[in-house]
Amino acid sequence: MAYKRNLLITGGAGFIGSHVVRLFVTKYPDYRIINLDKLTYAGNLANLSDIEQAPNYTFVRGDICDFEAVGELMQRYEIDGIIHLAAESHVDRSIRDPFTFARTNVLGTLSLLEAARRYWESRPERFEGKLFYHISTDEVYGALELSHPEGVEPPFTTTASSSEHHLAYGTEFFYETTKYNPHSPYSASKASSDHFVRAYHDTYGMPTLVTNCSNNYGPYQFPEKLIPLFINNIRHRKPLPVYGKGENVRDWLYVEDHARAIDLIFHRGKVAETYNIGGFNEWKNIDLIKVVIKTVDRLLGRTEGEDLDLITYVTDRPGHDMRYAIDSSKLQRELGWEPSLQFEEGIEKTVRWYLDNQAWMDNITSGDYEKYYDEMYRGR
Ligand code: NAD
Ligand code: TYD
Repeated sequence: MAYKRNLLITGGAGFIGSHVVRLFVTKYPDYRIINLDKLTYAGNLANLSDIEQAPNYTFVRGDICDFEAVGELMQRYEIDGIIHLAAESHVDRSIRDPFTFARTNVLGTLSLLEAARRYWESRPERFEGKLFYHISTDEVYGALELSHPEGVEPPFTTTASSSEHHLAYGTEFFYETTKYNPHSPYSASKASSDHFVRAYHDTYGMPTLVTNCSNNYGPYQFPEKLIPLFINNIRHRKPLPVYGKGENVRDWLYVEDHARAIDLIFHRGKVAETYNIGGFNEWKNIDLIKVVIKTVDRLLGRTEGEDLDLITYVTDRPGHDMRYAIDSSKLQRELGWEPSLQFEEGIEKTVRWYLDNQAWMDNITSGDYEKYYDEMYRGR
């Protein structure tokens, strides 16, 4: 069957990528979706077990840094669109091992860009109908301060963005025009990759797009990140390591809302533009952690709040950014996107998912998911 589009999605067996792959495979049966993933510690094919047999879905295990292999893949599947999510994504790991972040996030993105450019330039239609869509983070903008208008207690509601209300801990926000100022090796590597993507548009005329999103939460997130790590620890009554005083603020978005935004922007976003994606939903870590504890307790039939004493303050993360806050009014205004879930609903859904999918969590924490690849895919 000739497909209407042949899309390469990188990093599709990770957290956000698996939601994006699932959305595209199920919503667009006339698109062929090629998922290229190296399956590092963060990639897990069980994240996509529900759609792996779909006729329009193909998984390829490979490294985005392998320029030759990526070029061959593009040629073999006649790729006309790329949604690039593959990355090293955890700040704490980047502090311990910055080289891996430079390799995958910077050189890997460059390898993908150059492979796409050469393949598309070799075609008679060149860049027409093509798109290289790069998924990035709000962390490239650096850190904002905690502040509030005089006489107003934080968190305060603001209409700084065009959303009805924005729970905020400061009066400044990240806009698409905010100057890059990354602080961690992770955000520095993502900033560098964003620059390369834009340079490919400006230098070669390649159709590219970048979006910068705030912290995501939801099912299938690797349990080194705050929310799944803490849900699992609460369940097993293990200490909850809160960095510093727990005062840092993050802007949380339910992962399926991010995937919906990616779908919308892939189809209707303007080439060479940047769009910020955010939840209009700022939380101090310690307040968010208390909500998570109470929700887990309630869903496990424990007394609500009985696990609050698991909170353990530990040494702060070096260079820990104080506050992230995205203004995504451009995306709302121009493309009509907005988050679909209230945070309380999203957290309830998320906690329920992790508690109902304990086997997924046990598999991941024991490292057994490599076996899944061996059983399902090796030799195919
Ligand atoms: P993740 O760590 O859960 O998944 C990353 C995936 O990339 C994994 O499946 C991994 O196997 C794959 N991968 C890593 N190196 C690779 C390589 N060299 N070649 C091929 N595949 C490779 O990450 P995530 O949280 O789903 O993030 C996905 C993207 O979204 C990243 O680019 C990240 O910077 C960005 N992002 C994440 C968030 C967030 O809150 N998680 C927010 C904004 C933007
Ligand atoms: P994380 O999920 O690592 O995302 P990011 O650093 O990309 O925002 O962390 C979210 C926040 O939670 C961040 O301020 C660091 C903090 N944190 C803890 O306090 N303890 C933890 O064990 C982790 C993983 C994070």
